Amino acid sequence: MKIKIEHLTKRFGNFTAVDDFSTTFEDGELIALLGPSGCGKSTMLNMLSGILPVTEGKIYFDDDDVTDVSPDKRGVGLVFQNYALYPHMTVLQNICFPLEIQKMPKEERIAKAKEMAKLVHVDEFLDRKPGQLSGGQQQRVAIARALVKKPRLLLLDEPLSNLDARLRLEMREEIRRIQQETGITTVFVTHDQEEAMSISDHIVLMKLGVKQQYAEPQELYNDPANNFVADFLGNPPINKIFGVAKGGNFELEDGSASFPFELCSKVAEGTKVTLGIRAESAYPVATAEEAAFVGEVSSTYAMGKEELGYIKIGNQEFRAYIASELGYKKGDAINVGFKDRGVFLFVTETGERVR
Ligand SMILES: Nc1ncnc2c1ncn2[C@@H]1O[C@H](COP(=O)(O)OP(=O)(O)OP(=O)(O)O)[C@@H](O)[C@H]1O
Ligand SMILES: [Mg+2]
Repeated sequence: MKIKIEHLTKRFGNFTAVDDFSTTFEDGELIALLGPSGCGKSTMLNMLSGILPVTEGKIYFDDDDVTDVSPDKRGVGLVFQNYALYPHMTVLQNICFPLEIQKMPKEERIAKAKEMAKLVHVDEFLDRKPGQLSGGQQQRVAIARALVKKPRLLLLDEPLSNLDARLRLEMREEIRRIQQETGITTVFVTHDQEEAMSISDHIVLMKLGVKQQYAEPQELYNDPANNFVADFLGNPPINKIFGVAKGGNFELEDGSASFPFELCSKVAEGTKVTLGIRAESAYPVATAEEAAFVGEVSSTYAMGKEELGYIKIGNQEFRAYIASELGYKKGDAINVGFKDRGVFLFVTETGERVR
């Protein structure tokens, strides 16, 4: 099912938690809703589920306007961070429960619940109580319970954040598998960029209730809409050098270095600009002619075949990977080249990308 969101806004008093959000989620995709704590992810999800009424805007499931449709009539499955299973019921009873409410005949609902238990790999534990399961197993049961009614949309709010690091990795692959096997449109809330990058078809990145970018994971990384997006994705985080655009040059804020940088001619003379450089996008070149600029090695850290080096330009510093065999040492001059990919210019004040 396709989800169309138009100008969706949620206010709590005079605080705006989600602000004029529009986008379309394609049928059958897994979409990650990504952003820092408090940016409005859960608020978005709860408006999609119908738990939370919207202040303004519209939500369409395919062509149906569901903005004012109650949660139980939307056909959504919900999974939260704290599994919220019924502790006194067995695994089978937990998964059956939504069907029992629908008054489905007993045999039919048990058959359906068993099918779901199999899909999420908890069919060995049908008679156990939630307290007798690991966190990962409990979350599988919660997913089975959300899927048993064959929802049109699956909504997951940080479903992995109560799990330890290893289980998180395993379970995120599992969520991807289950999503692909069922083909159900799924919205997955997380504040973990790596989690979002690794399993989703598209990512929506939010900041303070405002959509920053909706794109495929790799596109978000390679072609960020603004400084916030570039900053949010990537490990190590993107390098930033602060300067001013002067005569087509990028000049460091204190004038301690300056070099030609084409995008600087696209903004007004004197505009404060930030150069964003991914660590893998700056590399040593043989001659100063080929280089974007000449810097100085300030430190290196061995990392096997590569070294992570800190390079000084004027009085600022950034990280880059440098091949170990080049043997750079602290204090060496280094000709730094830029790759086409992973080097961006932003207007410092607004964060807007200069293209
Ligand atoms: N019922 C409410 N009344 C007032 N403010 C609220 C209410 N619910 C949420 N907010 C505020 O709206 C903003 C967005 O909250 P939301 O729970 O959607 O964030 P989130 O992105 O899910 O964060 P987290 O990653 O911490 O779960 C927050 O600043 C929050 O304090
Ligand atoms: Mg939340």
